[in-house]
Amino acid sequence: MKTIRFGIIGCGLMGREFASAAARWCHLVDPPARPQIVAVCDTSDRAMDWFARNFPSVAQRTDDYRRLLANGQVDAVYVALPHHLHRQVYLDVIAAGKHLMGEKPFGIDLAANSEINRGIEARPDVFVRCVSQFPFFPAVQRIGRMIESGQFGRIIGVSSGFLHSSDLDADKPINWKRQVDTNGVYGVMADLGMHACHVPLRAGWRPRTVSAVLSKLVPTRPASKGSAQRVPCETWDNATLLIDAVDPAGGSFPWTLRTWRIAPGHRNAWYVEILADRTSVRFDTRSPGSLQVMRYDGGEQNWQTIEAGFETTYPTITGSIFEFGFTDAVQQMWAAFTCELATGRTPGLFAGCVRPEEVAISHRIFDAALRSAAAGMPVDCAPGGPPGR
Ligand SMILES: NC(=O)c1ccc[n+]([C@@H]2O[C@H](COP(=O)([O-])OP(=O)(O)OC[C@H]3O[C@@H](n4cnc5c(N)ncnc54)[C@H](O)[C@@H]3O)[C@@H](O)[C@H]2O)c1
Repeated sequence: MKTIRFGIIGCGLMGREFASAAARWCHLVDPPARPQIVAVCDTSDRAMDWFARNFPSVAQRTDDYRRLLANGQVDAVYVALPHHLHRQVYLDVIAAGKHLMGEKPFGIDLAANSEINRGIEARPDVFVRCVSQFPFFPAVQRIGRMIESGQFGRIIGVSSGFLHSSDLDADKPINWKRQVDTNGVYGVMADLGMHACHVPLRAGWRPRTVSAVLSKLVPTRPASKGSAQRVPCETWDNATLLIDAVDPAGGSFPWTLRTWRIAPGHRNAWYVEILADRTSVRFDTRSPGSLQVMRYDGGEQNWQTIEAGFETTYPTITGSIFEFGFTDAVQQMWAAFTCELATGRTPGLFAGCVRPEEVAISHRIFDAALRSAAAGMPVDCAPGGPPGR
């Protein structure tokens, strides 16, 4: 089995998720490659201490990512930093010839993302993918295989989204994700948007126009925990988009995309629904094992629930009857990244991580949403090219 030596830049919430997935790599059955964490970088010593305690393989810790990029023992880098740092760090990673798994939104805005894409074009020898783990739930992998084998017929409508209640509490202190300088003008779309775009974009469906309603619900937040001082909370809290989408197999359809940070009754619900004239499906991470399917042949309309269990695309030691969760999806995504990097392929169209050209389309959608909300009307959204394989 090939070992891919990783550096992590940004040792916060998501940096730790990757490291934990790598630490239990024995969970996967015969993967073609395994990640080994050899270097970490963060401006916070405390953040790196956790890695030092748990990963004896870490030989380098630094607060300067350029030193990590100069380390010849590092083959690939996972960057999990605030959004205003994506452009420069991603470009430097690519220019250093390190393979890159970058967090979304992959550039704070459309201009930053376009610059990153130019850097990628200049280095075809570097493998680059973007994080998005929810499509690795077994039920969503099934949906992907159904799309790939053309089971839906004419698409009538698609809904996808991500509903949080993380900001329902108006007294939750401000953090970098609620400020334009660090999170970006997209607001909640920067945080949650790529997750909601992944399946429709991988299906090859392309946006033509976007109509958006953007909501700012909490104008100020405490400056810190327990503080009486309140500071502006600048970013969009909720984004509701209606996209006129084109199916390359024929026809167009409404795609409703919701990314809400303030969604009462929800905690971390990612969902996708595809309604079509032959087959329709629904999936929501609140019922993580269940896939709802309705096949229509002119007779009764009966929704059927299939329990997808732990039927993972990348085989594991866990029996297929057990339940699957968030950390499993993260590990499956990393299995996809390392498998594609090591072998040049994935076992199916939906078994690979988000590609830079798909990220670029997500940026065009979010940018169009900003323009639409400002104009109060639908706006054009350049569709982008066909999906590669
Ligand atoms: N895939 C997901 O489900 C998911 C979930 C949350 C966040 N994210 C994404 O992950 C990225 C990071 O988010 P997070 O929640 O892990 O953030 P975080 O705040 O928990 O971690 C960011 C880390 O970066 C460090 N940092 C800041 N500036 C730095 C610099 N100049 N050099 C080195 N380190 C620096 C901070 O000290 C911190 O430890 C963002 O792009 C975010 O959108 C993805």
